[in-house]
Amino acid sequence: MRVLVVHGPNLNLLGERDPQIYGKQTLAEINDAVADEARRLGVEVEFAQYNGEGEIIDALHRARRECDGIVINPGAYAHYSYALADAIEAIGLPVIEVHLSNVAAREAFRRTSVTAAACRGVIGGLGARGYVLALRSLAEPKS
Ligand code: DQA
Repeated sequence: MRVLVVHGPNLNLLGERDPQIYGKQTLAEINDAVADEARRLGVEVEFAQYNGEGEIIDALHRARRECDGIVINPGAYAHYSYALADAIEAIGLPVIEVHLSNVAAREAFRRTSVTAAACRGVIGGLGARGYVLALRSLAEPKS
């Protein structure tokens, strides 16, 4: 099994960006933790981070031929990008949306995710552990 983990806009700044909200771990450290779990699970994992909406969509399109599932933190695009929602829908792969912070407990605009409905599931508020749990759920046999 091969899984693409995509991080959206501004997540390249993890570690220095609002650490009281997003934690002190850098993106590289988060990816290392996910890669460790992937090894344990025997899953091949690929990481990407894009600030641009179109770049994320292109990555999803490529993944439809190359991957079996996707873990995505769409960042703020989750709150308004119908283009990203359409792309998730279009590729026909299981996608798990992850947010580091508990978006339900933050500003009103973060309480809407237009991408969530196209995803198999959503994990929020558990920090980097959310990515690990998302990977596990993609790796386990479907019930
Ligand atoms: C985020 C939450 C979004 O509202 C925000 O725009 C982000 C990060 C999270 O991981 O908690 O960039 O997706």
